[in-house]
Amino acid sequence: MAAVPFAFLVHPRARVSDDLARVWRPLGRIPERTAERAVRRLPLRPFTMARVHLPDVAPDPVGRVVLVPFGARHMLEAPHAARARVEQAVDHAARRGAGIVGLGALTATVTTGGSTLVGRTDIGVTNGNAYTAAVVEDQLRDVLAAAPHRARRVAVVGATGSVGTTLVRLLARDRAVEHLTLVARAGGRLGALAGEVCRRVPTTVSTDLRDVRECDVVVLLTASADALLCAEHLAPGAVVVDATQPRNTSPDLVVERPDVTVLDGGVVAVPGLRLRGGDIGQPPGRTYGCFAETALLALSGHTGHFSIGVPTLDQVDHLRSLTRRFAALGFRAAAPTSFGRPVDVDGAQDAVTTHDAVTHAVTHDAVTHDAVTHAVTHDAVTSTGVLTSGATSQDAAPARDEALVAAGVAA
Ligand SMILES: NC(=O)c1ccc[n+]([C@@H]2O[C@H](COP(=O)([O-])OP(=O)(O)OC[C@H]3O[C@@H](n4cnc5c(N)ncnc54)[C@H](OP(=O)(O)O)[C@@H]3O)[C@@H](O)[C@H]2O)c1
Repeated sequence: MAAVPFAFLVHPRARVSDDLARVWRPLGRIPERTAERAVRRLPLRPFTMARVHLPDVAPDPVGRVVLVPFGARHMLEAPHAARARVEQAVDHAARRGAGIVGLGALTATVTTGGSTLVGRTDIGVTNGNAYTAAVVEDQLRDVLAAAPHRARRVAVVGATGSVGTTLVRLLARDRAVEHLTLVARAGGRLGALAGEVCRRVPTTVSTDLRDVRECDVVVLLTASADALLCAEHLAPGAVVVDATQPRNTSPDLVVERPDVTVLDGGVVAVPGLRLRGGDIGQPPGRTYGCFAETALLALSGHTGHFSIGVPTLDQVDHLRSLTRRFAALGFRAAAPTSFGRPVDVDGAQDAVTTHDAVTHAVTHDAVTHDAVTHAVTHDAVTSTGVLTSGATSQDAAPARDEALVAAGVAA
């Protein structure tokens, strides 16, 4: 089947004025409270903030990144309004010919993993969480393999969510860990999930983050605007795989607890991938698992919806088969980083080059200089989870003007 164009939805994940400045610099002068209020109250339209290029596949863009102008806190505090903006963003994508749209960050949470969008027949929807769970499982296995003598007691925080449930089922199916501690706020769903997997892996549940202290490795899959996992929650020498967006850990954590390693979770290497017009907090050649799932489905010519709510393990297996089919493009867990800086899985700074950058340099004749340079020097990902922009795309202009008007800095 021929590839179809795709769209991927993102939203400002931290201080709204900072992220608006990354779309158009003068917007950074707006006081945060004004920007917050403007974005929350004014009917700003979603817009295309970047085009997605995969030169090894096609000379023209293969997809677009659509910004939903609603902050992370807004998403969680006003889910009804957030869903309306996500619908508008899906309209925007469908009108511009996308065959499938992926739900980045909290656009998945506010639509209950895309469930509120299943009535759409004009475009396929995927929350991207089948492949995200697969990538996080791969990263976790690398962590466990790097220290074979470490006890394999693993906590999954956010275990009852879309990614969390899929990951827990994968780990139980593969008997990849010795013991699971499942953590979330609502106890009922935790009990049901534990009942399902405990025959394959000994499992305990908790609604108290402090119980994570019993575990050697912690996978963080919560949906929050705040840093939830703190120094006092972690065992000596613990490794955290944090796949949250916005990040629910702070870089201060590794300053306060130098014995702890925090790895960036759910990051995928696609060495030829480039965004033009803006970026979403990953250097060239890297992206998020949910973005990669959307791209894989589009490349395979998929039509209709895919991951909705909690993905099935068959869907995970299908995505893994697609990564084998498109292996020439990458689509594997990226070399480990901690807040954007290369490290090895035990947390030692890896100052040389990352594995995926080197592989790309060796296997691709296409331009590699910027990917390698970026991999060596890049430290852009902050606790805030940035939306950075090299230039303002044409499609960004109307929304930029609206934002200016909203902020009272343009007529
Ligand atoms: N890196 C990537 O490529 C990638 C891809 C997809 C998703 N993500 C990120 O992964 C995270 C999970 O996504 P999702 O779609 O699975 O979200 P989700 O379905 O909304 O699940 C969120 C989970 O977190 C729990 N939770 C929320 N707040 C909590 C708190 N304060 N303390 C403890 N548990 C809490 C929820 O359960 P309770 O409500 O019961 O607490 C639930 O289990 C999000 O941050 C998302 O942006 C990253």
